Amino acid sequence: MKITLTANKKVKPDFSKLGFGKYFTDHMLVMDYKDGAWQEPEIIPYGPFQMDPSTCVLHYGQGIFEGLKAYKDANGKITMFRPYDNFKRMNRSATRLCMPELDVDKVVEALKELVLVDQDWIPTEPGTALYIRPTMIAYDAMLGVHPAHNYKFFIILSPVGSYYASGMKPTKIMVEDKYVRAPLGGTGEAKCMGNYATSLLAGDIANKKGYEQVLWLDAQEKKYIEEVGAMNMFFVFDGVVKTPELVGSILPGITRDSVIKLLKYYGKPVEETRVSLDEIQENIEKGTFNEAFGSGTAAVISPVGTLNIHGEDVIINGGEMGEITSFLYDRLTGIQYGRYEDPFGWIVRVN
Ligand code: PLP
Ligand code: COI
Repeated sequence: MKITLTANKKVKPDFSKLGFGKYFTDHMLVMDYKDGAWQEPEIIPYGPFQMDPSTCVLHYGQGIFEGLKAYKDANGKITMFRPYDNFKRMNRSATRLCMPELDVDKVVEALKELVLVDQDWIPTEPGTALYIRPTMIAYDAMLGVHPAHNYKFFIILSPVGSYYASGMKPTKIMVEDKYVRAPLGGTGEAKCMGNYATSLLAGDIANKKGYEQVLWLDAQEKKYIEEVGAMNMFFVFDGVVKTPELVGSILPGITRDSVIKLLKYYGKPVEETRVSLDEIQENIEKGTFNEAFGSGTAAVISPVGTLNIHGEDVIINGGEMGEITSFLYDRLTGIQYGRYEDPFGWIVRVN
């Protein structure tokens, strides 16, 4: 692979005050699709693209992305968490958006090279990681509404801390009863740009009311829980962990899948099922609504302390992180950071 190193390395930020997605490393990977085929990937200095103002993605949003993380331990060993699964999901998103699929093995190999080139940017402070953002955009300069013939795929890297400003403090989430995220048959299960643009208004209204995120309900009946803007949801009712089943309108999260596998591995009851607002209400009344948490690459395992349902705040587990949430946080991050053995084959070595 052709690698062009930058002559102007940036000054690194304070790795103990990273926040999420604010800093970018010195290099990026780019790969163009033209004449019906992906060209060779290249690593080049991080910098802007030149785009014609008529470029398709700017008008019709034919664009998809992924999110995964790399970690470095005290001995300098670098790993990534489930990268093959991210690129397989990217290919499913590509199919939904009429975009070309990637060669998963080849892209993971190229990504390893990029992570190695910028390995000094992998933070090692507790709770930090190198966030990896693969993206694919339609690149034709042309205003007709049609699947493009040219695409640009790129990967950028960002050293990150926790996704929520409040860190591991349980979040406040508002159930959204006016707007919906994705109907059945829509693009909910694809990681496409438009899903995020259309979620902004509800999120902004919730923020102004003091909530960090909205919890989406199903678009048909507004009765069943779907997910939060950047994470899948889990509820613990009377000791049983329940998560919305994958019906086509929610993102099949890789962290969600890891949580389910961890729970099964440790013999804890877990169900992928429909979770209704009625069931939440019943468990509140019976006093059996034990815990709620979200799962995601950026969010990791994120406890929910307050759920606002139809204007009423429900405080979960006294607003504190629950036992199962904290067990899962420990096990998942333990595997990711190499504190525990990985019996699942999720960890991919980079060096
Ligand atoms: N749901 C949405 C809408 C997301 O954007 C994300 C983040 O990627 C998730 C769920 C969690 O998915 P994953 O665990 O693969 O990061
Ligand atoms: C992720 O967790 O990787 C995401 O993509 C969530 C968000 C930053 C959009």
